[in-house]
Amino acid sequence: MSSTEDVVLVTGASTGIGRACALRLDQAGLRVVAGVRRAADGQALRAASSDRLRPVILDVTDAAAIAAAADLVRGELGGARLAGIVNNAGIGVGGPLEFVPLDHLRRQFEVNVVGVVAVIQAFLPMLREGRGRIVTMGSIGGRVGQPFAAPYTASKHALEAMSDALRLELKPWHIEVCLIEPGNIATPIWEKGMRTADALARSAPQRVFQLYGRALEVMSELLARQEASGIPPDRVADAVLHALTSRRPKTRYLVGSDARVLALLRTVLPDRWRDELILRYTKLPRDEAAVAARKTPATRATTNGRATTRAPKRRAKAAR
Ligand SMILES: NC(=O)c1ccc[n+]([C@@H]2O[C@H](COP(=O)([O-])OP(=O)(O)OC[C@H]3O[C@@H](n4cnc5c(N)ncnc54)[C@H](OP(=O)(O)O)[C@@H]3O)[C@@H](O)[C@H]2O)c1
Repeated sequence: MSSTEDVVLVTGASTGIGRACALRLDQAGLRVVAGVRRAADGQALRAASSDRLRPVILDVTDAAAIAAAADLVRGELGGARLAGIVNNAGIGVGGPLEFVPLDHLRRQFEVNVVGVVAVIQAFLPMLREGRGRIVTMGSIGGRVGQPFAAPYTASKHALEAMSDALRLELKPWHIEVCLIEPGNIATPIWEKGMRTADALARSAPQRVFQLYGRALEVMSELLARQEASGIPPDRVADAVLHALTSRRPKTRYLVGSDARVLALLRTVLPDRWRDELILRYTKLPRDEAAVAARKTPATRATTNGRATTRAPKRRAKAAR
């Protein structure tokens, strides 16, 4: 390709925020290399974009795929520069931390944290050459930990720390490092999280529901309400475009009024006041008698002590 338009890599561009970013950046005239895990998702993106957009198969947990994507981008550059990477790919693991399977916790960090670092490492030489920028998809959950979403919010908290560190480490090369902190955005992540949670619940010990049943019901109801009130992913894409192209990008972009309110509460309220507010708002149970499941006909013990039938709905979907 001989075009001199700036090139941008977006990971996790198949759906939701990543797709919105890829299309928004494409519309803005950038040459987007869009990371997807299935060829069909790349074709769907191509159908919705200009001819400039180039899909690449990229799983951020696959070192060989990252190296191949870096080679492809280098080949694409020609006389142009890599203007930035958008570390968007992410998954949400939730549930009571006491029972979260450790391999799920590891997977959460493998995708949301290690995957981000792996991509940054692979693309930094090109970013350095062209003074490109690093834009990473955090979450307001990275500032305010949320009950039953500890794996997810912990992974986003890690991104907060990493972005602060990286911003200073890369100062000598004037590489801007920006973190996007969306609140509740309407994307398939909710549905994907619920499917994973349902699968997990089917193999969860009955004890989970004995101990946390009511709390999980409350969270499920709350998340269903939140899901319905997410704002469009285009709002996040606007912030990403600003981070990549503005003369003075911000270090952090809160997206959505819920994110701004939570960030304010984090700053002004002592922890216990904030806990109290969250308990009141969510109506999460406060004592042992209340936290156990109400009669949950959907769940029954079996001889091996596991819950068999459908577990309470939507109990472990990750907070945003
Ligand atoms: N939705 C929200 O309310 C919200 C709020 C704050 C932050 N975020 C963050 O925004 C980002 C995008 O999420 P979304 O809401 O747009 O959800 P989404 O529609 O589920 O998008 C997630 C993207 O990540 C990709 N992905 C998952 N695992 C991957 C892997 N191992 N390698 C490469 N790509 C992978 C998915 O690809 P496949 O289709 O192949 O699975 C998909 O393209 C995530 O980092 C999320 O934490 C979302």
